[in-house]
Amino acid sequence: MAAPLDGKLALVTGASKGIGQAIAEQLAARGATVIAAARSLEGRVLADRRVPGVIPVTLDVCSESAVDALFAEVQSKLGPLDVLVNNAGVGVFKPTIELSLDEWNQVIGTNLTGAFLCARAAFRQMKAAGGRIIHIGSIADHVNLSGCAAYGASKFGLRGLSGVINEDGKEHGVRSTLISVGATYTHIWEGREEFDASDMLSPADVADTVADVASKGLGIRIDELRILPPQGVL
Ligand SMILES: NC(=O)c1ccc[n+]([C@@H]2O[C@H](COP(=O)([O-])OP(=O)(O)OC[C@H]3O[C@@H](n4cnc5c(N)ncnc54)[C@H](OP(=O)(O)O)[C@@H]3O)[C@@H](O)[C@H]2O)c1
Repeated sequence: MAAPLDGKLALVTGASKGIGQAIAEQLAARGATVIAAARSLEGRVLADRRVPGVIPVTLDVCSESAVDALFAEVQSKLGPLDVLVNNAGVGVFKPTIELSLDEWNQVIGTNLTGAFLCARAAFRQMKAAGGRIIHIGSIADHVNLSGCAAYGASKFGLRGLSGVINEDGKEHGVRSTLISVGATYTHIWEGREEFDASDMLSPADVADTVADVASKGLGIRIDELRILPPQGVL
């Protein structure tokens, strides 16, 4: 029997580790060819592990020229994308008055501007046949969390971007989904003794949800999903 994503082409940002790596591997396990992009990827991690169906590439989502060049190369060599997963993200968590402009720009530049650049490049090539753009959001995209000025602003912004893409994408079959994710055990939690991995989602849990959304036909719009560990917000 054919896998649900057989013949589909996907690109996942921030796929060198954590949630993004799990998403890339899960989409490939369901039959997609997956471009796994991150700054540190070429010749490392996924490449070393030789995951079938996963093509690792170097990409800094903050660079407009690098994003446009990679998406153009993907389209010319493999065809238009069916799925983009905007997962690349960074966080700086400190009181607002201690946040530097550089830190603010790094977080907004990666989580929001980077997502916009990738979504724009994907949308342009999805216009002809449609496609799905999936953004990895957070609790911080709908709850005001202390110490999350830049991170929260970036994720609230991502929520707005995702919604507008759905409006702009209506007649083109371009569907956008924001998946607001609760605590998920990745290396960002290592060393924080007050949190237990067993209380959190795993990257595989998130990847399964992303792959389910990616597998849906374009006749259905899935605007927002919220997935949390059983204990809710930790
Ligand atoms: N873990 C959680 O509890 C949790 C909860 C809610 C939402 N999220 C969201 O889930 C996403 C992934 O988080 P994670 O926990 O898996 O983090 P992670 O393990 O730190 O992975 C982040 C990924 O983003 C990549 N990245 C960072 N800056 C980039 C850039 N400029 N260009 C391209 N790639 C870049 C990193 O690779 P390189 O350094 O190689 O570029 C890495 O692959 C983020 O958007 C995060 O906000 C996480």
